[in-house]
Amino acid sequence: MIRSVISGIGSYVPPKAVTNDDLAKLMTTSHEWIQTRSGIEERRFADEGVYCSDLALEASKKAIEDAGITKDDVDFIILATLSPDHHFPGTGCALQDKLGIGPVGALDVRNQCTGFLYSLTVADALVRTGAYKNILVVGAEVHSSALNFTDEGRSVAVLFGDGAAAVIVSPSEEEDRGVLYTELHAEGKYAKALHLDIWDISRKPYLTAEDLEKGQHWPAMDGGTVFKHAIIRLVEVVEHTLEKNGFTKEDVKYVIPHQANMRINQFVADKLKMPREKFLHNMQKYGNTTAASIPLLLDETYRQGMLNRGDLLLLVGFGAGFTWGSALLRW
Ligand code: ACO
Repeated sequence: MIRSVISGIGSYVPPKAVTNDDLAKLMTTSHEWIQTRSGIEERRFADEGVYCSDLALEASKKAIEDAGITKDDVDFIILATLSPDHHFPGTGCALQDKLGIGPVGALDVRNQCTGFLYSLTVADALVRTGAYKNILVVGAEVHSSALNFTDEGRSVAVLFGDGAAAVIVSPSEEEDRGVLYTELHAEGKYAKALHLDIWDISRKPYLTAEDLEKGQHWPAMDGGTVFKHAIIRLVEVVEHTLEKNGFTKEDVKYVIPHQANMRINQFVADKLKMPREKFLHNMQKYGNTTAASIPLLLDETYRQGMLNRGDLLLLVGFGAGFTWGSALLRW
């Protein structure tokens, strides 16, 4: 049986760090409020003129190098983002162009905080069919251009940051290594709990000056509903993933959760009766980087030398849609 493995990984965050105190100069908030409610201490913001595909490019170069291949060995691209360069064409196409590689297929995935897990699932399936050998899977976000840094937008704006992370997904003959299992879910009835009012393509025209005046171009979130559902679904997906694959909580070396909120992840660990230390975090430094958050944390964990061949890793995420899912990896 051919499995798919992560044969290379890399990440990139823009250099500009923005602390909670920096945000407190723009809106009525405080380091204490943000840190106690979310665990976030700072985040990175891209400069004006930087696209999602630019961050994706830097992360991709590192993943390609880590895999020991050249960019011309990449035979398919999957790019997950909530903040594409433009509404269309897809940002994967921009990445393909910036990489300067041949006309390989490029697929955009729009499943927000679960985007990396959806992308990995597709890559895993495509590799296991034998269709592709080196799929570049990227999660990348430039949130900072689309957040409302006034008191009206503060409950959302303080949570998000910019960044990108990429993996190369390749075939392996080793049966007990690589992507062992993935699980994906969606529940569209909760779309309005975290969404952007525009674009609403049913409206003619879909965007007016009045919409902008009303601030409908800023993301809207019912934080309490997101929080509640995130905990329920993450607990559920961890339990189901382990049970379905015959593993116990003790078998898992680390849980690599989406980095939305430290409190969500700690609640989940507590409910599962798993040690909080098994749930890794880096949202303190980067905030919520949506599609980039899981691979960004995986890359940091790997580069810190914390991963050994054979470690069982459980990747889990929950976000807008609602969407949620898991991936069980043998490193
Ligand atoms: N600074 C200071 N005060 C603020 C801020 C801010 N940035 N934002 C909101 N407040 C105020 C509110 O206006 C409210 O004031 P009021 O009581 O006078 O009305 C007060 O703080 C409390 O607001 P709550 O919304 O009750 O605060 P809560 O403790 O619920 O925390 C939070 C809000 C952090 C958004 C929380 O609901 C949460 O984390 N939800 C999960 C959402 C999430 O993580 N989303 C990320 C994207 S989805 C995903 O990736 C999972």
